[in-house]
Amino acid sequence: MYNKIDVDKIDLNSEPPTDELERQYYFMAKCRKWVNDFKQKNGRFPKACVVNLGCQMNARDSEKLEGILEAVGYQKTASEDADFVIYNTCTVRENANLKVYGRLGQLGKRKEKHPWMKIALCGCMMQEPQVVEKLKKSYRFVDLIFGTHNIYKFAEYLAEILTKEQMVVEIWKDTDRIVENLPVDRKYPFKSGVNIMFGCNNFCSYCIVPYVRGRERSRRPEEILAEVKRLADDGVVEVMLLGQNVNSYGKNLEHPMTFAQLLREVAKVEGIERIRFMTSHPKDLSDELIEVMASEPKVCRHLHLPLQSGSSRILKQMNRRYTKEQYLELVDKLRRAVPDISLTTDIIVGFPGETEEDFQETLDVVRRVRYDSAFTFQYSKRSGTPAAAMENQVPHEEVQRHFDQLLAEVQQIAGEVCRRDEHTVRQVLVESVNEHDASLVSGRMSNNTLVHFPGDASLIGTLQNVYLEESRGFYYMGRLAL
Ligand code: 5AD
Ligand code: SF4
Repeated sequence: MYNKIDVDKIDLNSEPPTDELERQYYFMAKCRKWVNDFKQKNGRFPKACVVNLGCQMNARDSEKLEGILEAVGYQKTASEDADFVIYNTCTVRENANLKVYGRLGQLGKRKEKHPWMKIALCGCMMQEPQVVEKLKKSYRFVDLIFGTHNIYKFAEYLAEILTKEQMVVEIWKDTDRIVENLPVDRKYPFKSGVNIMFGCNNFCSYCIVPYVRGRERSRRPEEILAEVKRLADDGVVEVMLLGQNVNSYGKNLEHPMTFAQLLREVAKVEGIERIRFMTSHPKDLSDELIEVMASEPKVCRHLHLPLQSGSSRILKQMNRRYTKEQYLELVDKLRRAVPDISLTTDIIVGFPGETEEDFQETLDVVRRVRYDSAFTFQYSKRSGTPAAAMENQVPHEEVQRHFDQLLAEVQQIAGEVCRRDEHTVRQVLVESVNEHDASLVSGRMSNNTLVHFPGDASLIGTLQNVYLEESRGFYYMGRLAL
């Protein structure tokens, strides 16, 4: 549906076009020729495996990679026993990097047995120069490395590695380009992420994202709305608007626009029944946004509002630009305006200099807010960030002890909070047949809680009223309400 250009009609004897979109379609045509030759020789289409190792933004990027691979003629597979494997990496925490090297080692062994195999790496981790150096030195079997800013050139790079034996490495420090209308292969027919902005300007002191994703750039609202309309025409009922900090959407546009205004426009699109968004920085959450959440029924009753720490002292060190009190006031304001809102959060334990008192402040916020769920992380030192150079890095045992305590508290509260809708009727978007019991289907409520109830595959992608019979901690068992 995104293909405005017919790949089969492109003249490959001509020079590559200079217009970026046309150019990428030209290289898709080149790759397709290679794929057809492969089919002739081997009696089958080549298989491609895209491995997503990151956040929702990464997942959306992976759908773009898959869209191009599909347009080129590759067969999609979840197995890394494929002709082309690409890891879309994350680098928010050190663990993520270590895992990539481990997996890559395995993949290298596979390539020794299947030398025609092509291996590519992209995503945030590739934006770190020392990573690329290490790969170039010790992982020579990798064919292609590119970063977050030039992902739209994937078809061009693919064409290059399919026809040459050399390693292709292209990393850009930043970009102001956003190339629209490349193919996308969506994971779900009925819901989709939609990028509304790229990059981050906040420079929280522990975070590497602003260095690897570059400065904030908002997509033009016309482009976003056109994409949402196309998605709705294609059967999508739920969209998730994606950005590192959606609340600062639109500030750098030629005609500035607020995120709340954008939400109102998206809500007007016929066929779209639910709108989610991620992530909101508390410091930029406006009254106007709260008003839209309260008054616009299509906007889901869920807000992910990263706390990071409950200690105002640590928040200052983190450069978060809000205090514990301001965060709690914001939560009060949200709950007054949208009483049934479900709140989720991210919390980091063990930021440099965090004391027992600081940690108790975090626990205090957790107990007061009572989150529906919380992602808890142990602080991970990311070189190049200001926090990495701070003294008083907290000893691992203490971080672990606090982490375990926090997790237990979060889970205990979440189990209690998630019960609150028991014995009520709620709308559920059916997502799949239940993995463990084929007589059940599974879906999500507006506040994102999972519900299982008797039904069949015909319900997938539809919104159903479901009576929530029983809460089982983090999910419900229900039945269709007549
Ligand atoms: N260490 C631990 N957690 C981090 N996050 C970001 N950077 C780090 C880090 N250096 C967490 C934050 C953010 C989430 C996506 O990842 O909580 O909200
Ligand atoms: Fe990282 Fe802070 Fe930007 Fe989120 S807002 S991506 S935590 S710098």
